[in-house]
Amino acid sequence: MNYRHAFHAGNFADVFKHAILIGLLESLKAKQTPFCYIETHAGAGRYDLQSEAARKTREYENGVLRLFGATRLGSHTHIYLNLVRALNAAAPHELSVYPGSPLIASLLLREQDRAALCEWQEDEAGKLKRLFLGDARIGVHHRDGYTALAGLVPPRERRGLVLIDPPFEAQEDEFRAIETAFAAAYARWPTGIYAIWYPIKLRQQTLPFQRWFARQKIPKVLCAELLLHPDNSALRLNGCGMIIVNAPWKFDRQLAELLPSLRQHLGQGRFGQHRIEWLTRE
Ligand SMILES: C[S@@+](CC[C@H](N)C(=O)[O-])C[C@H]1O[C@@H](n2cnc3c(N)ncnc32)[C@H](O)[C@@H]1O
Repeated sequence: MNYRHAFHAGNFADVFKHAILIGLLESLKAKQTPFCYIETHAGAGRYDLQSEAARKTREYENGVLRLFGATRLGSHTHIYLNLVRALNAAAPHELSVYPGSPLIASLLLREQDRAALCEWQEDEAGKLKRLFLGDARIGVHHRDGYTALAGLVPPRERRGLVLIDPPFEAQEDEFRAIETAFAAAYARWPTGIYAIWYPIKLRQQTLPFQRWFARQKIPKVLCAELLLHPDNSALRLNGCGMIIVNAPWKFDRQLAELLPSLRQHLGQGRFGQHRIEWLTRE
């Protein structure tokens, strides 16, 4: 396991993932009843953009940094930017802190909500535990998120969201690991919302994954993708996607507002595409 999210924090894939995450959390907050946020691959929770790792790749410069000053962003993108801004209030002109998905979620959870976060790498799990020390709403599990998931669902709240965001070091095997873990969790908790992030390098790697979801005979599976380069090179992260199971009502319309603006601001050349497709409906 070599993957360290510090090298990628705040890149275009994080912007895409975190803006969608905020939309899903806000939709759960439309009701007062509590919900539970579960992550299988949580990371460290907070990243130092001035660290050696982040400065080596500077991926955030083609990600979150591009959105500052941009207008006509969707309302969830503004929430996202304001969270990043608030964490950098001490030095607003030099972005130094980037919130991972657990920190973003914790800043949006209410008193009645709860989170269960899994992280397999010891040092990352340690950072996550220290970040949420004293926050009784948040439980950190130093565990394999794939095997932990079935034991975490259904949560006692019976409402909530599971984010599955693996490192994809195992390349195509990671897609199969997600399918297995998702099927076991869905069998136990068919009403939860599941958001599953995936990288797009070669189209032939992502098609079987989408077809698998389309074949499961489960309703309301939405697929969102953002491509900044053609999907024909295994050597580059050309884009990324999110499968959303039990997508909230009209969530496709929210994505139709979000994705064109991300494409416009994060585009790295003339190429740029987005896609919103229901893989299954009601
Ligand atoms: C893409 S990063 C997560 C980023 C995070 N979700 C965010 O958006 O801020 C993937 C994380 O999964 C962790 N990881 C890898 N295999 C795992 C496993 N089997 N179970 C739990 N965590 C794992 C890695 O250590 C890494 O921190």
